[in-house]
Amino acid sequence: MAVVTLTIDGKPVSARAGESVLAAAAEAGIRIPTLCHLDGVSEAAACRLCLVQVEGRGRLQAACVTAAAEGMVVRTQTDTLREYRKMILELLFAEGNHVCAVCVANGNCELQAAAADLGMDHVRYPYLNPVRPVDVSHAQYAVDHNRCILCTRCVRTCDEIEGAHTWDVAGRGTLSHLIADMGQPWGESATCTSCGKCVQSCPTGALFRQGSTVAEMTKDREKLGDLVLARREKKWTV
Ligand code: SF4
Ligand code: SF4
Ligand code: FES
Repeated sequence: MAVVTLTIDGKPVSARAGESVLAAAAEAGIRIPTLCHLDGVSEAAACRLCLVQVEGRGRLQAACVTAAAEGMVVRTQTDTLREYRKMILELLFAEGNHVCAVCVANGNCELQAAAADLGMDHVRYPYLNPVRPVDVSHAQYAVDHNRCILCTRCVRTCDEIEGAHTWDVAGRGTLSHLIADMGQPWGESATCTSCGKCVQSCPTGALFRQGSTVAEMTKDREKLGDLVLARREKKWTV
């Protein structure tokens, strides 16, 4: 397989041709913040948190969908990028209802962790305080739309790993929201296998196990990774 050499934050890095800048950086121990990226499923480039600067390109590039190329010079940590990332996070906090103190994912939330990493200590935009439902119709799980950042990790996990395609996004702009099947309560879904993979893939407290209380909902992404690897290496025993 062809190998390309590029520079990320001043460090020479080798990558397989076609590999993303995000993957090349990760292999070199350089961490770029992400929210919608999840190892093992396709990219959606929905959150834009992974924006990086590429020399010679006028616009910021999403590292998860930018292919590493020979001679590329990439910067992942600049004041401009930090400011953009902070702005993205503040907008996410402003457009949903994120009250961490009473959230099942408090302390185990990727959105919260990203905000803490970037030193986000306040939100400069007006809170929209949307009125959104909490669907507890499923026997084991629940979805709190107030904490959903529409990263679509659950959509892609359910479709690409479980093969059920229960989840989708309906509506446009600020009215966009997650739906099960044709928009019925999750518990009435004809396609959901109750596997729980979507719950494990969710970066926030939007999808959780029923009965979880504040700060109790931890996610086990390794299980998803193991499943993806097993499928890739054809380890199924049926
Ligand atoms: S999902 Fe994360 S950011 Fe939102 S309320 Fe819960 S812990 Fe806070
Ligand atoms: S429920 Fe969770 S995984 Fe699904 S789109 Fe919302 S935040 Fe992302
Ligand atoms: S991780 Fe690249 S756009 Fe979300």
